Amino acid sequence: MKIRRVLSILAVLFSLSIFVYAQELKPITLSAPQTQGGKPLMQAFKDRKSAREFSSKELSLKVMSDLLWAANGINRPDIAHRTAPSAMNMQEIDIYVAKADGVYVYDAKANKLLPVVAGDIRALTGKQPFVKDAPVNIIYVADLSKMSKLSAEDKNFYAAADTGFISENVYLYCASVGLATVVRGSMDKTALARAMKLRGDQKVILAQTVGYPEIKAGGR
Ligand SMILES: Cc1cc2nc3c(=O)[nH]c(=O)nc-3n(C[C@H](O)[C@H](O)[C@H](O)COP(=O)(O)O)c2cc1C
Repeated sequence: MKIRRVLSILAVLFSLSIFVYAQELKPITLSAPQTQGGKPLMQAFKDRKSAREFSSKELSLKVMSDLLWAANGINRPDIAHRTAPSAMNMQEIDIYVAKADGVYVYDAKANKLLPVVAGDIRALTGKQPFVKDAPVNIIYVADLSKMSKLSAEDKNFYAAADTGFISENVYLYCASVGLATVVRGSMDKTALARAMKLRGDQKVILAQTVGYPEIKAGGR
């Protein structure tokens, strides 16, 4: 009798966990970027650095919105150009965001984060221990279908170069507002691409962790 009750409780818990896991992610509408404030650019250069200790504190919607816009948002709506340059204006780099609830992709035109896969895959975005707890891991993904006229060598070169500009924008935004960040090449790209359900013509280029700096007990 007891065993039957335990089994039925377990069955309920199991179906609840499936329900929670399978719960659909909803699109996140981002706020308009705040283009005032933050440290002046020269000071942001002075403070730019890589950090590898992160608090698990979530980023607010406003911070997430400003971060993504600084990274590669549309800064000239009349011509839909971006805060980062891209070779031949291909705009082939998509910004995926792995959070605790799932993976989203940044739609700069709609200023939204669109759901990609539910579930926490942060641990798969890198080989270093901090990636699983930091609130945000960005994954830079090249959409090779937008580069179809180029040779394989040029695709690799321009996708890497264009990612570098976006990543540096993220570094400078983080330096400007006191966030911690590090760009990362160390990861299992095949496993990550599978978890993100990427198409065959999408390629993971780099990842970048973003969060608040970890304040050690007794530290400042
Ligand atoms: C293409 C690239 C890949 C990198 N990959 C990693 C990485 O996998 N893990 C990591 O902790 N740092 C990584 N970094 C960060 C560098 O280690 C860091 O920029 C360098 O040590 C200089 O430190 P700084 O950024 O504080 O000036 C990478 C940097 C670049 C540009």
